[in-house]
Amino acid sequence: MMSLTINFAQGPIGAEILGADLSRAVDAQTLASIRGALDERGVIVLRTQNLQPVHIARFAEHFGRPLVHAHNKFALPNAPAVSVISNIVDEQGRNVGVPDAGLVWHTDGSYLVHPDMYAFLYGIEIPMQDGEPLGTTYYSSATAAYDALPEILRKRLDGLRAVHSFAYHAANRAARGGTKIEITEELRRKHPDVSQPVVRVHPRTGRKALYVTEGHTTHILGMDRAESDALLKQLFAHLCEPRFVYGHRWQVGDLLVWDNASTQHRATCDYALPQRRLMHRTATAGEDAVGMALA
Ligand code: SIN
Repeated sequence: MMSLTINFAQGPIGAEILGADLSRAVDAQTLASIRGALDERGVIVLRTQNLQPVHIARFAEHFGRPLVHAHNKFALPNAPAVSVISNIVDEQGRNVGVPDAGLVWHTDGSYLVHPDMYAFLYGIEIPMQDGEPLGTTYYSSATAAYDALPEILRKRLDGLRAVHSFAYHAANRAARGGTKIEITEELRRKHPDVSQPVVRVHPRTGRKALYVTEGHTTHILGMDRAESDALLKQLFAHLCEPRFVYGHRWQVGDLLVWDNASTQHRATCDYALPQRRLMHRTATAGEDAVGMALA
């Protein structure tokens, strides 16, 4: 068994785990402690790792079925479930990874019937300025945000569903200066809009969390547009209040794991070459079909 030290961040979200070596096989007891911290805190960082892509893929398999995206041009050949996030370019000026993933608050794959469950992001090169890390990733506890809502608002949200859209996300990302994705008919057919519960029940803990995001949610069903816009605006502002947010300041060798059913996140692009950022990322599939295709 590995001897772990688990330090909770201030507030309701985030924990640092010291003493794990994920380049080795992880025993059941160690895994149970890590999963317990993840269930409770929504996002955890396993510090001072030295991992090859196969180690990341093997660790992720303990949490669910690894997601392998066909046609992901940044997937690694020896570990196809692991892909590259990076602002680095090769000699021809081509990106070696996705340069600007997740600039708007979102939870992964909420535009799918089976949204992604856990994500794993490993820091290999971290951009620095004056000794400080750049590219902080922010996480919000959607569980704590739900718990803090007034009872009357929780009742109003009960049973509501909202539309999540891949096309809307792509437009949102481009509007914030991110990479433009052309939304073709083929892409629309592959990723049709879905509805999701506005309040999601966690499949492991049974806790409720707000499940609308600035990045993907277009409107709440069964409401007129002005009412839906006003309610979503209120919920988005509530979700990113500092009391629910953990900002992860990266160190080389961090493996960050987050729970998409209880948290939301966004990246920060406050660095540019020659400040290099290189990460390896993988994710596991969600088992519960919370999303519903729209008729
Ligand atoms: C993501 O949204 O998956 C990436 C976060 C980051 O690059 O900081």
